[in-house]
Amino acid sequence: MYRSHTCGQLRTADEGKTVILAGWVQTVRKFGSITFIDLRDRYGITQLLFGEGMNENLNEDSLSREYVLQAEGIVQLRNNKNPQMLTGDIEIKVQRYKILNKSITPPFTIQDDTDGGDDLRMKYRYLDLRRNEVKKNLELRYAVNRSARNYLHENQFIDIETPFLIKSTPEGARDFVVPSRMNAGQFYALPQSPQTFKQLLMVSGYDRYYQIVRCFRDEDLRADRQPEFTQIDCEMSFVEQEDILNMFEGMVKSIFKQVKGVEYSEELPRISWEEAMWVYGSDKPDIRFGMKIANLKSAFKKDGRIIAKGELVNGRGFGIFQQAETILAIAVPGCSEYTRKQLDELTDWVKRPQIGMQGLAYIKCNVDGSFKSSFDKFFGSEDLEAIAEFANAQPGDLVLILAGLEERTRKAISDLRLELGQRLGFRKKEEYKLLWVLDFPLFEYSGEENRWVARHHPFTAPKPDHIGIMIQNDPLIENATDYLNHPYATIKANAYDMVLNGNEIGGGSIRIYQRDLQEKMFTALGMSKEEALHKFGFLLGAFEYGAPPHGGIAFGFDRLCSILGGSESIRDFIAFPKNNSGRDTMLDAPSTIDDKQLKELAIESSAPKS
Ligand code: AMO
Repeated sequence: MYRSHTCGQLRTADEGKTVILAGWVQTVRKFGSITFIDLRDRYGITQLLFGEGMNENLNEDSLSREYVLQAEGIVQLRNNKNPQMLTGDIEIKVQRYKILNKSITPPFTIQDDTDGGDDLRMKYRYLDLRRNEVKKNLELRYAVNRSARNYLHENQFIDIETPFLIKSTPEGARDFVVPSRMNAGQFYALPQSPQTFKQLLMVSGYDRYYQIVRCFRDEDLRADRQPEFTQIDCEMSFVEQEDILNMFEGMVKSIFKQVKGVEYSEELPRISWEEAMWVYGSDKPDIRFGMKIANLKSAFKKDGRIIAKGELVNGRGFGIFQQAETILAIAVPGCSEYTRKQLDELTDWVKRPQIGMQGLAYIKCNVDGSFKSSFDKFFGSEDLEAIAEFANAQPGDLVLILAGLEERTRKAISDLRLELGQRLGFRKKEEYKLLWVLDFPLFEYSGEENRWVARHHPFTAPKPDHIGIMIQNDPLIENATDYLNHPYATIKANAYDMVLNGNEIGGGSIRIYQRDLQEKMFTALGMSKEEALHKFGFLLGAFEYGAPPHGGIAFGFDRLCSILGGSESIRDFIAFPKNNSGRDTMLDAPSTIDDKQLKELAIESSAPKS
């Protein structure tokens, strides 16, 4: 027997028991004739006491950090109890021990506040995984996994695996491809998601499918993106949008309850994509705080007097407002006393290339009721008051105003809102605000390709009353700069995203299930009939054999876990993640393969001949 108990198990009630523990040496502390060793395993840490007879042969060479040790001894109460540790009341008086394996000195300390940098920890990820912090993350991930599975199982979903070696599925990223040896010159694509398979399963009659499944996307990486990541992927038949929203709201609530002990009794808020864009400047709004965006170019009233576009823009001779396509403002609570220096710093912040604004205008709404702005020359106090009121500012607030091209300004004010929300402590990690964003546009215009692209994916159904617009109009865009006036720009999709604290944690849609509409969709996206058949003939074919109405959703499992765990980075919740260049530095992958293997795959070597 290697062990009778784990290192996290023993308590005062076990006093006097003879036990055997096995684990890793966390610390060795020598005090003359006695030595204390903290022994660690997955469950915790227990103090071992090596007294007379046991202590003599212990030295740095015979036993140091990360050695694997087995120790037998008697549980006794400690003189100095440690309330920080679960096993802090007891220790083991060692009678016999055995070194099961040695360890060379680890490249960083295996403890919560490690001295190891990111790169080092990734290279030795198997050591990093011994750390309590990382272990807690993987445990949370497993808890979320279990909770989702339980909920879906209770609701008659079945887990069906779908293949990894497939043909391209379009989720908007590049595919990872795998060459086929048996079919020289041909390639499989790794799935960006099981989208088409889950739809085929609906055609097959498995009306509630789920899978916690790996997806592969060759896209630029960020803290919340990995080239391979996991989705909780789901699909249902005979459902409308409302059924899906209810079912998966239920799932997420149940995960919150089980994993975080957070109860949501109310229905989650729902807002339209359009409202989200106007009010928060983003399709994934963080609603933990207000600071809603006011559109100063729209007409607004003060005492019955309209300070409208005309007056704000033309009436005062302030060039920046005059020329701007849009003017957006937020009221920052309690910041009216910002100093010149603080305002300059904020101005520099919005001028950074990532934000790309020319400058920042402000109105200080002083507590005494007076106003002071960066454009006092052009606007009287009454006007400033009207603008402040329109931006929902209270006495003591600072109104920040950005003016410029519509899309950039909206993005900039949204970033500024989030930045200030962060600085002012409004984005609390332990506060969770979920919502649905609905009614996304079906299409987006791609200037690069001069065509419409699917905003979600090409299998998403238009809203029933918008199907006509799609059928009756030619997708052709004659004047690229005028695409917003094309009828396709008005078509809304039966698509929905779930947003948590400003992150898109899930997205899905009601699907097209009729061959002719699906064909029309492919045409709208600029695909020829032949191309559509070549790429998606299997799906179009399946739609001719009684495809039921269906819809679904997929949650970003890693993202959900990282937010629940209070981390910015999904890497912390993946056992063996890739770095920002998509590399596994532990394996040193990707790597070259030798000429023999390339030849078998009928791929010519591009490496320079030596
Ligand atoms: P979508 O592309 O929106 O939908 O993906 C669903 C969710 O997956 C997460 N996600 C990612 N997480 C980590 N790294 C990535 N690179 C990454 N990309 C996406 C996001 C996102 O909300 N087949 C559709 C779903 C459907 O229509 O049912 C799909 O994949 O949290």
